[in-house]
Amino acid sequence: MTGGGWTLGIESTAHTLSFGLVDKDGIPYPSISDTVRPDKGGIHPREAADHHKEVAPELFRRILTENNLTPEAISNIAFSQGPGLGPCLRIGASIARGLSNRLDAPLIGVNHCVAHIEIGRQQCGCDDPVLLYVSGGNTQVIARLEGRYRVLGETLDIGIGNMLDKFARAQGIPFPGGPVIEKLASEWLIQNPDHSMEGLELPYAVRGMDLAFSGVLTAALKLVENGQALGAVCWSLQEHVFSACVEVAERALSHTGKSELLLGGGVACNDRLRSMCEIMSVERDSQSFAPPRMYCIDNGTMIARLGWLEQQVGRITLLEKSAIDQYLRTDQTPINWA
Ligand code: ATP
Ligand code: FE2
Repeated sequence: MTGGGWTLGIESTAHTLSFGLVDKDGIPYPSISDTVRPDKGGIHPREAADHHKEVAPELFRRILTENNLTPEAISNIAFSQGPGLGPCLRIGASIARGLSNRLDAPLIGVNHCVAHIEIGRQQCGCDDPVLLYVSGGNTQVIARLEGRYRVLGETLDIGIGNMLDKFARAQGIPFPGGPVIEKLASEWLIQNPDHSMEGLELPYAVRGMDLAFSGVLTAALKLVENGQALGAVCWSLQEHVFSACVEVAERALSHTGKSELLLGGGVACNDRLRSMCEIMSVERDSQSFAPPRMYCIDNGTMIARLGWLEQQVGRITLLEKSAIDQYLRTDQTPINWA
């Protein structure tokens, strides 16, 4: 091993460029990140990639200085190999290749979705959970079965976070819209404690073990157009889509016989979703876990942590195998660490 045993993680799948670290024992250190915030419209992959290229040198300098490290302390370079936006992934991968070459440190290409899961397991100390992975691009209910994280149910159209962001954008709320929707919903609830769902009904997003969000989005936009208060619609939207996710997660607990539920992904920052998961888990004699918010949203530390796990079982990525895969699936990555 060269260097001081640290693993650097580079996250670049979408809106955020982030560098994170774990030490030689796999202990996580907070990430240094920068997120592109378009003035108007959604995230444009090319613009996000340009952003990542521009901020990379400064973020790399900061992750080192804030941890009192020299570049030579880094022994492994982990990066998000997929899934994600092609131009953004390519920037992360080329930064990783450059650093790997310069520092003579092995490359480890990792699965972004699996990284969300593994940082959660590490942070929450849970063993074999059902995962409710709710982010911008992904909404999946996952369980570990026969050495892979298997997707038991997922969105059939857009990710739950993208749906929240699109709803918010239509109201003039910039990206990321999820936290603002949460705030508007809870403020409305405080002012309307005796509310009912009357006039605020939305389609229910469950299809067997799968979910769907575009119909709910259209219906919620229509409620606002028809004059319902924005806070009321935000509240109803959260209640409907989070209940749908929790219902599928509950069924997954029941089918698999597991007794731990772990939240992951950016939408897992949401307090209402966290409390719904807790209520459901308590009713089933199970336990619900949610990682600290900085490890729910995209972050380099989770990439470093998964890189470290992969490296422990001897998996590194040769240069000729380091191409990105925009469509990498959660269940494509073998899970053979403890
Ligand atoms: P992935 O590539 O895993 O799909 P992602 O690129 O979408 O992830 P994340 O950082 O995991 O990125 O998630 C971002 C999403 O999380 C955004 O859609 C944002 O609105 C949503 N989000 C963040 N905080 C909250 C919150 N408090 N409530 C609801 N949604 C939230
Ligand atoms: Fe993510």
